Order: sequence, then C-alpha cells, then structure tokens
Amino acid sequence: MKEFVVTPWEVKGKVDYEKLVRNFGIELLDERILAQLKKHTGELHYFLERKIFFAHKYFDLILKEFEKGNKFYLYTGRAPAGPVHLGHLVPWIFAKWLQDKFNSILIFQIPDEEKFFFKDDLSLEDTKKWAYENILDIIAIGFDPKKTKIFLDTEYAGHLYKYACMVAKKVTLSTTKALFGFKDSNNLGEIFYTCMQSVPAFLPTIWEKKPTNCLIPCAVDQDVHFRLTRDIAPKLGFPKPATILCKFLPSLTQGGKMSTSVENTAIFTTDTPEKVRTKIIKYAFSGGRKTVKEHRKKGGIPEIDVSYQYLTFFLEDTKKLKQIYEDYKSGKMLTGELKEITIEVLNKFLQEHQKRRERAKEKIEEFMLRD
Ligand code: TRP
Repeated sequence: MKEFVVTPWEVKGKVDYEKLVRNFGIELLDERILAQLKKHTGELHYFLERKIFFAHKYFDLILKEFEKGNKFYLYTGRAPAGPVHLGHLVPWIFAKWLQDKFNSILIFQIPDEEKFFFKDDLSLEDTKKWAYENILDIIAIGFDPKKTKIFLDTEYAGHLYKYACMVAKKVTLSTTKALFGFKDSNNLGEIFYTCMQSVPAFLPTIWEKKPTNCLIPCAVDQDVHFRLTRDIAPKLGFPKPATILCKFLPSLTQGGKMSTSVENTAIFTTDTPEKVRTKIIKYAFSGGRKTVKEHRKKGGIPEIDVSYQYLTFFLEDTKKLKQIYEDYKSGKMLTGELKEITIEVLNKFLQEHQKRRERAKEKIEEFMLRD
C-alpha cells in the first residue's frame, strides 16, 4: 500500500485509520464506550454509527467523571485562511450535538495567527477578514449563544498569553521537532503556535476556578497538538484534555482530504446549487464501471465512490443510505443517478446552511470574547 501522511499541515494519500490509531496512541470508539455514551444521550449521532467519529483519547474518563457529576466543556477551533468547505463543518455539527446533549459550554478558538505563520502570502489582515467570514459558518451551525464563546487569538491575546507562556516554558524545541517534524528553517511563530492551541483546553479550569474537564471534538490530524497539551497539563496543574476524533471528508478528486488550497477538490458553503452540480458531475471521483453494460453486470464500488462517501456524511436517513449502497453495488443504480441524489442532498443542506449563515450576520457580537 502507498504511504500516507497525516499532520496538522498536510494530509496526503489514502489514510489508513487503523494504523493512525496505533501511531498516534489514541483508541477506537468501541461498542462499549458508545453504549456508555448512549446511556446519557439516548441516541447516537449517525457520525458515530457510521464511524466518521471513530477514535478518542480519554473520552471514557470524561464520561466516568460526568457520571460522578463533573461537567465538561467543549473546545474546538478553526484557523482562518479561506472559505469554509463541507469538511470543516463535520466536527462543528458534532460539537453542536454534544452541546445539546450535555448542555456544555463550547469554547471556539479562531487562531488568526496560525495560517499567517505557515503561509507566505497571507497577511494578518487577510486572516482576520477570513475569521469573520468563517464565524458566520460557525454560528450557522446553530450553537447556543449563551453557551458558546468565540474569540480570535489576536483579539483575546491579553487573556491567553500568560497561559501560552506557561505552556511554552514546558516545551523544548526538540519536543516540537519530534512531534511536528519542524526543521531549523521553520520560523519561531510556527514553533510557538502550538502553545496558543493548548490554552483554550485550560480555560474551563481557569474560568471555573476548579479542575474542570475539557473535551475536544476535531479531525484526527489535530490530536498531535493535544498530545503535547496532555503531556504538559499535569505539570501546570490542569486536567488533561480529552479528544474525540473524526475522519476526513474526502476531496472531490480521489485521495487526501477536502482542501481549500487545491482547486476543484472542495465544495464551499457559499457555492451556488449550479456550482455544486458542476463540481459533482465534473470532478467527483466515480466508483462506477467504464460502460453501462459492465456496470450493470459487475456493479459499482461505493467504497471508492466520492459521491457515495459524501452521502455517508450528509444523508441522515440510514435506511435510504443502505438502499443506495445496495443498488449501486448491485449495478441497479448508475453513477449518474448516484450523482443526482448527492447533488440534491448537498444542495438541500447548503440551502438551509446559507439561510442561517445570512442571519448570523446580526448575531456575531452575542458570541465574541475580546480583551
Ligand atoms: N489548528 C486548527 C486548524 O488548522 C485550528 C484549531 C485551533 C483547532 N484550536 C483547535 C482545531 C481546537 C480543533 C480543535 O484549523
């Protein structure tokens, strides 16, 4: 099998998630822990049933503590550098579900310095502009304004910097080199940045003035940052944060994740219905056969079909999804038909999202924390 790469800055090749679990020292979300979760939520989000959220670290402890009456906060984030695409929404949708089920406060970090450090052609003005664009998508998810705090690092640094310094003092250059693969040519901002991403995991304890747990729903590539956070937390007197981790939404063209920086691999939340249609028809990698005759005889391959993969993320109706799987696999359903269904499902989702995104423009201030 071809090698794959998963770091916070790069996802390449076909990801072997089992291998990732071993390499990252995380655990699979197994039946036991899902049953334990269901005791509190009454149902499982389809992201869990379909193993889109598939791994965790210390989520079992979060539940155990919750059962003892100890609440937890949620924390996630988004480094602004461009428009939001469908893949970004996945952890946010799940965070909203957790917020509703556990009545948790959500801390939403917008590190507007992160991509500034990592990309040559991006100014702090650019990332700030994208931050406020992206916040519309975040609010559109439907988070409770009374229980959700959003901040930009550059606007809330007065509250964060002290703790970032405490983290920085505990992390050596050789640790960041080993964890992130940094070289001597990396700039100091890139090396320091992970300290800023650690801090919100400690805010629950700082705000509550007593040890308070933090659960971080995010894509699996971000766990590296939190491995560092977990390592230094006890040294600073904070509880170790837990993570609950999802897979990547595949890019339109096969291989790797949906990415803003590669043309025609992503569907953006502001795409028009026509644009979504063109992208799916023209670019979505197909698991269909070369001719209709061959397709009818051998059937399609849903496992490699990007449209089908998108349905597993965005079609809630599990019975319908199963039927589509059967029909495509048996050859009864052709690629064209599968693509039409996908276009309809995505456009219906986006139509609702875009309405909420528009309304979010008046709500920004209800969510923001600033110095
Ligand atoms: N590094 C993340 C990104 O590239 C942004 C981020 C900051 C984040 N804090 C987080 C993501 C916490 C998940 C959880 O988008």
